[in-house]
Parts: sequence; structure tokens; C-alpha cells
Amino acid sequence: MELFRDFFEPGYGAELLSRWGHYLAGVTWIGLLYYFNFVQTPAFAEMTAESRSEALRKITWRALWWFRFGALLTLLTGLMILGFQKNLGSDFSTYFQTVPGTSIAFGAIVGITMFTNVWVIIWPAQKIVIGSAERVAAGGEADPRAATVAKPAARASRANTLMSIPMLFFMAFTTHGVDLFRDTGEIGGDTLLVAWIVFVVVLAAIEGAALGWFGGYDGPLAKVFFDDHKMTIMWGFVAWVVLYFVAFEAIIA
Ligand code: HEM
Repeated sequence: MELFRDFFEPGYGAELLSRWGHYLAGVTWIGLLYYFNFVQTPAFAEMTAESRSEALRKITWRALWWFRFGALLTLLTGLMILGFQKNLGSDFSTYFQTVPGTSIAFGAIVGITMFTNVWVIIWPAQKIVIGSAERVAAGGEADPRAATVAKPAARASRANTLMSIPMLFFMAFTTHGVDLFRDTGEIGGDTLLVAWIVFVVVLAAIEGAALGWFGGYDGPLAKVFFDDHKMTIMWGFVAWVVLYFVAFEAIIA
């Protein structure tokens, strides 16, 4: 069977099946992320406290299961692709100095930041918020922590929405866009360093704003990036313009 020929070699069956799993898991994760940001949050703002509580306990709870395990499977399958390509092993240092290697490094680091936001900020906060709704529904007292954890979780969720836009570009660009670049060999050390500085500045601005580094969760940058989901989408494209046109077109190419 063709699928199993040279199964574990780069470009063969194991890598292909990992890519398939990566698409399925990624669609599940990012689809639910967009549902939370574009559908659930505005809808919750219009609902009564009772309806919101019921929706949290019946809908959000279930959605969060698929969301967080979708994120986990996306990460694992992404690392599997890199592993089967041998880019985490013998080819590590050469691969990550090329255009495709730099592209997937940018995409994967943004993806891993998003994964960390899910498991370290969003999910623990939602557990408290939904647990509190359960207690109130059963006639008990609300958990006082629910009010304080909601904002950091909302900011992290918006940051993930923003970052998903350039992240997905770099996922695709790695294999389907490198032919645009005439020189696909190793990039010079200084050039690569400058491109990486641009990347770190962009990532720190977005993630730092979500973590409240610049004047708290309602600091100016956080408000501009995250208050309105349409602005979040717009800033996602701005981040892409800087990462692609500055780091790749102006610096690397
Ligand atoms: C969480 C960390 C992530 C890692 C480590 C990761 C890793 C990778 C790797 C190694 C590739 C293969 C690049 C190549 O050589 O063509 C890839 C491609 C891709 N990834 Fe990710 N990824 C992550 C997150 C995501 C997310 C959240 C999505 C959202 C849907 C996603 C969607 C894709 C897509 C569509 C491709 C293109 C595959 C292709 O061109 O065949 N990835 N990713």
C-alpha cells in the first residue's frame, strides 16, 4: 500500500497523516475560538443573568472541552509534522535558518503562545466562572474569584484571535509560499537576527498587552487591540503586514 511505503520518511505517510490530524484539530480549536469571540461574547452581553448562567453551564462547558483538547492535539500533531520531517532532529540548525524554517518557527511560536494562553489562563479562569455559575444555580454563593479572573481570560482569548491571523499565514507560507523567494538557502546570521527582533517585538506587544504589562488589562494597548472584536481582526492583519512585509520581504528577501 502506497500510504505505508517509507512510512516514517520525510514527506511520506506519517507526515501526511499528522498534517491531516493537524488540520482537524486546528479547525476544531480555532473554530471554537472564533465562536467564543464573534458569537458567544456579544450574545452573552445581551442575555439575562439566568440565561447566561444556563448557557455557560450547558454550552460553554462543552465547547471548552473540544476547545482545549483541540488545542492540545493541534500542538502535538504540529510537533509530529516537524519530527517526521526530521526538522527537530538532525536537520534542526540548517532548517531553521532557511525561509521555510523561519516561517514555521514564527507560526509555531505564535501557536505555542496561543496554546499556553488556553491552558494557563483561559481554561483555569473558565473553570472558576462556570463553577461559580453552578453554585449559584444550586442556590449557593457566587465564587468571588469569578469577577477577577474573567478579564485576563477575555484578554487572552482576544489575543489568540488576533494572533491566529498571522499564525495561519505562516503555517501555509512554509510550504506553499517559499517559491516566491528566489534564494531559499540559509539566511545570513545578522539578517536572521534582525528578522527575529521584529518578530519578538510584535509578539511581545500583543501578548504583553493581553497579560496587562502595559498599564494593566485596561491599558491603552489592551483597549485598542482587544475591546472590539472587529478591531482585533484588523490588528491581526496589521501584525501580519509587519511580520511578512518587514521581516520577510524587507529584511530577509
Ligand atoms: C500549536 C502550535 C503549532 C505547531 C507547533 C504547528 C506546526 C506546524 C507544522 C510543523 C506545519 C508544517 C509546515 C510545513 O512544513 O508545511 C504546520 C502546518 C500547518 N498548520 Fe500548524 N502548528 C501549530 C498550530 C496550528 C494551528 C492553531 C492551526 C490552525 C488551524 C494550524 C494550521 C496549520 C495549517 C493549515 C498548516 C498547513 C499545512 C500544509 O500546508 O500542508 N497550525 N503546522
